[in-house]
Amino acid sequence: MTTHLVSLWDFNKSELQAYIDRALVLKKEAGDGVRHQQLAGKTIGMIFEKPSTRTRVSFESAMYNLGGQVIYLSSKDTQLSRNEPLKDMARVMSRYVDALVVRTFGQPIVDELAAYATVPVINALTDLFHPCQILSDIMTVREVKDKPLEELHIVWIGDGNNMANTWIQAAAKLGFKLTLACPEGYEPDNDILKRAQAEATKPITVMRDPREAIRDADVVNCDVWSSMGQEAEAEERLGIFQPYQVNGTLLAGGKPDLTVLHCLPAHRDEEITDEVLEGPQCVAWDQAENKMHIHMSILEKHMLG
Ligand code: CP
Ligand code: NVA
Repeated sequence: MTTHLVSLWDFNKSELQAYIDRALVLKKEAGDGVRHQQLAGKTIGMIFEKPSTRTRVSFESAMYNLGGQVIYLSSKDTQLSRNEPLKDMARVMSRYVDALVVRTFGQPIVDELAAYATVPVINALTDLFHPCQILSDIMTVREVKDKPLEELHIVWIGDGNNMANTWIQAAAKLGFKLTLACPEGYEPDNDILKRAQAEATKPITVMRDPREAIRDADVVNCDVWSSMGQEAEAEERLGIFQPYQVNGTLLAGGKPDLTVLHCLPAHRDEEITDEVLEGPQCVAWDQAENKMHIHMSILEKHMLG
């Protein structure tokens, strides 16, 4: 059966842990110089309707590292830009490639491609979710913290966006405490929050005050204040989100070993100060590297079954 990765809702705890366990092995093997060929002769098609540095290059590297090949298509290069139906695109692409990696706007676009594709469809970011990113972020947390994930308090500060929604899903599935500090009107998706709270074994809480949120946190996450597609709101958001900047003053109210995550790209001195991003508590560069290892793990799992 074709298994897609469109949303973390579709996976249980052990399946999510397995992506990370395998990525940690692949990372170690990469360091030891082990070469892989298990996807030789296979091709992924990458349909990207939004820009990307990390996700694009790390998926391409991941596929090449497994011996496979990549066809990258920006939206303007395909007939999607001239309104070819998604269901037609999905069926045609399935005849040419062995998996599709898709970055787009609405989650229904990925869901519809997955409904019609006969090859695995992997969500490389939508307005609602960024599942592959959260898997590499949790892999990074596992590397830097010596406590099990279930004993950690993870905090999100800023916009209740695609990353926040996916952290909420992960908290429910993997069983860790999650607190989100967001301005009024910029909370995460309420249906996702309610479903996650109903399934969770640890508290998932949305609050206003970032200082209160990070007081006993082990990990704090930040992300841009305006996501791709929200450029018209960027100026208004600058003012609204100012109290949510992750800076030295905020970190001073947290634990000394608080770890700072940023999925990148970062807007220095907006959501995070240069001092914090470049400082010893921030592991953004490891997160970026881990995207490649987690993408190898995902491609292997979905393309080899
Ligand atoms: N973190 C992330 O998804 O970065 P890109 O937009 O560069 O892919
Ligand atoms: N929330 C951001 C994440 C970028 C990786 C966006 O959607 O633009």
